[in-house]
Amino acid sequence: MKRYVPMVAIDVATKAGAVELFDELVDVTPKPIVKIGMEMYYGLGQEIVKEAQKRGFQIFLDLKLYDIPNTVHRAMAAIGRLGIDFTTIHAAGGTEMLTAGLAGLEEGAVEAGVRPAKLLAITQLTSIDDQILHEQQHVDLSLIESVQNYAQLAEGVGLAGVICSARELPAIRQVTRPDFLCITPGIRPSLKVHDDQKRVVTPAQARELGSNGIVVGRPITQSDDPVAAYQQIQQAFLAD
Ligand code: C5P
Repeated sequence: MKRYVPMVAIDVATKAGAVELFDELVDVTPKPIVKIGMEMYYGLGQEIVKEAQKRGFQIFLDLKLYDIPNTVHRAMAAIGRLGIDFTTIHAAGGTEMLTAGLAGLEEGAVEAGVRPAKLLAITQLTSIDDQILHEQQHVDLSLIESVQNYAQLAEGVGLAGVICSARELPAIRQVTRPDFLCITPGIRPSLKVHDDQKRVVTPAQARELGSNGIVVGRPITQSDDPVAAYQQIQQAFLAD
């Protein structure tokens, strides 16, 4: 089963802070994938993507697109032109929006002469629980059934995979083909430190549950020694 190197979530407020982390991680083997999210992208724009690309990092640009199909198509084309490696879209937008996003991403990449990014669907955010689903969104399915449904929608229109909690992995694997990617945040090297993540697993548990890639932020970026923290995490996740 495909397992990617850990994706390090560079959730810092300033360009200087991000560049400092890039420079610390640049020569590490295996080289981490860096995840750039909304906060950094909206604040710093393409400049921060280019800083990471200059250093040879693969990039996960986590922008979670959700709009009408035409807008998503055009926005994804712009993302595709950046030559990044992974990006995200909300499955809740429906198959027409997902298909438009996928097409836009591919068209942008072709236009720029780069490899198209892998498109991953957001199923249900981990901040949504059964109560919100039933009482506010008036959805009759359970949260896990809804996650399974969205994973199948995404797979059906050709997306590469989903972002999910490691605890949802077995349920998603039941309904999707074996090479469908499940990328999991909510990772802590020690279960004693949770920060604001409610349900966490260790890198080794994520591997055992069949995760294809882990997203790890604060345990690396706020460590006194980010390189050592990353090495410990990648060894635990990639070890056979
Ligand atoms: O610092 P920490 O390891 O908790 O960071 C996790 C990263 O994964 C953050 O960038 C966060 O936005 C993202 N994420 C998450 N839970 C999700 C989806 C994304 O923690 N369900």
